[in-house]
Amino acid sequence: MNQENILIIGSNGQLGTALKLQYPNATNVDFKELDITNLEELKKFNWSRFKIILNAAAYTNVDGAETEEGRVMAWKVNAIGPKNLSIIARDNDLTLLHISTDYVFDGKINNHNEDEFFSPLSVYGSSKAAGDIIVSSLPKHYILRTSWVIGEGKNFVKTMIELGKKGINPNVVSDQIGRLTFTNELVRAIDFLINTSSIFGTYNLSNSGEEKSWADITRRIFEYMNMTNNVINVSTEEYYKDKEGIAPRPLKSTLNLSKIQSKGFKSRAWEEELIDYIKKETSS
Ligand SMILES: NC(=O)c1ccc[n+]([C@@H]2O[C@H](COP(=O)([O-])OP(=O)(O)OC[C@H]3O[C@@H](n4cnc5c(N)ncnc54)[C@H](OP(=O)(O)O)[C@@H]3O)[C@@H](O)[C@H]2O)c1
Repeated sequence: MNQENILIIGSNGQLGTALKLQYPNATNVDFKELDITNLEELKKFNWSRFKIILNAAAYTNVDGAETEEGRVMAWKVNAIGPKNLSIIARDNDLTLLHISTDYVFDGKINNHNEDEFFSPLSVYGSSKAAGDIIVSSLPKHYILRTSWVIGEGKNFVKTMIELGKKGINPNVVSDQIGRLTFTNELVRAIDFLINTSSIFGTYNLSNSGEEKSWADITRRIFEYMNMTNNVINVSTEEYYKDKEGIAPRPLKSTLNLSKIQSKGFKSRAWEEELIDYIKKETSS
């Protein structure tokens, strides 16, 4: 795929930032330049040189989506946005690549397959499931379903590195299980799908490696940083017990990676990627 034919939407987010690095000659836009919830604005945009839209835009504030205002925003950006992009993609014969989440599931099954029925627990998860349903009706689409994304900006790994440096022994949730997905891995998978002309459809994508709880991942972070801080296991229920407006979260988030791997994609273990990430974060 020629980079000039790629449009990155939501380019200031975690994934969007990584996509801009991968495709420096692609066109990139964020909310200010192109609001995906506004179909009239999208129709006026010049689509003629593009072949593919990489949609990294989303409303990702999971707890914010439970508020009166956030609920509307989540549905606008995560459901109406993909609907509008689907109309544009259909009318202009473009491929639409969209990103989904493990939050479309209730997290009761150990290893999620691409064809599991939706069972979202939260407003965010419901709005994302609606977006997936719409995008999947397009003939030329890829949906990459991912979990626990780590890239630029505020994220779990950075927060734990900071707590570790301050000598804090953090309480960390120990009953949510999954694997991290570094944005590098997402970008590699996107590049793989669009450059190998893979069959359209939905693909799970996280880093490979052992599934772990957030608490165990924190132990790895401290171990790799040679820190002796203790990590205190807490259940999700305990962790949020005095907090209001918290969205329910799936407890089992592990995604089965066999579909994309069977097409030839080589996954990288999250532990390896974590070591690289910590080196980068602590050297700057
Ligand atoms: N983060 C995770 O752990 C996680 C896990 C599973 C799946 N995902 C999915 O992965 C994808 C990328 O997530 P991310 O973490 O990179 O998200 P992110 O950092 O929150 O970035 C989302 C971007 O979308 C932009 N945006 C919001 N509303 C928009 C609109 N109406 N029109 C155009 N752009 C808009 C945001 O701009 P503003 O900042 O200006 O609002 C932001 O730059 C999303 O589909 C998300 O649902 C994320």
